[in-house]
Amino acid sequence: RIELNGRAFRLFIQREEIAHVVHHLAQRIRQDYADKEPVCLIVLKGAFIFAADLLRQLSLPCTVEMIRARSYGAEMTSSGTVQIEPPVLNVRGKDVLLIEDIVDTGLTLRALVRFVEEHQPASLRIVTLLAKPPARHLRVPLTYIGKEIPSVFVVGYGMDYAESGRGLPDIYAVETSVSGQSPP
Ligand code: IMP
Repeated sequence: RIELNGRAFRLFIQREEIAHVVHHLAQRIRQDYADKEPVCLIVLKGAFIFAADLLRQLSLPCTVEMIRARSYGAEMTSSGTVQIEPPVLNVRGKDVLLIEDIVDTGLTLRALVRFVEEHQPASLRIVTLLAKPPARHLRVPLTYIGKEIPSVFVVGYGMDYAESGRGLPDIYAVETSVSGQSPP
């Protein structure tokens, strides 16, 4: 049990399980992109640790780009708007693999997909380490999902709570006294 910014979090996914999930994702992606040189497009900041682990296991001649999408402020719920940086991306005619940490409402992903598609890639697929239930109903190419989790707020392994907790090697979930994603 740990505390971040005055909130209690409990161990949720241990590093061994994360490693197992990442290993399996890498295997699938490696097979699917065997004859390709994808552009691995890392969504900052949250996906940086996942992407670092995934890329080292891919053994593919890929290139790396980074993109920043901001939809969350200091709160635990989506703010409703998505800002994307940088404004241009050189992926024309390339096979893009977008690397996300976690998909919740899908608002961020929808905006990112629209943005990437405007830059005319040859193909676009998404890999996310974690997905919450609303992600199931998304009409985006979310091809690789590491693990489905319930609607709990998590931190660690790159993911933050108001910028805290990104460096934790395991994933923690917020402790709730009542049901729901956000504590009272
Ligand atoms: P969505 O737009 O609701 O799908 O949220 C996607 C983004 O919000 C992710 O890329 C994360 O940066 C952030 N996010 C969503 N759920 C969590 C969480 O449980 N912990 C930390 N960040 C989250």
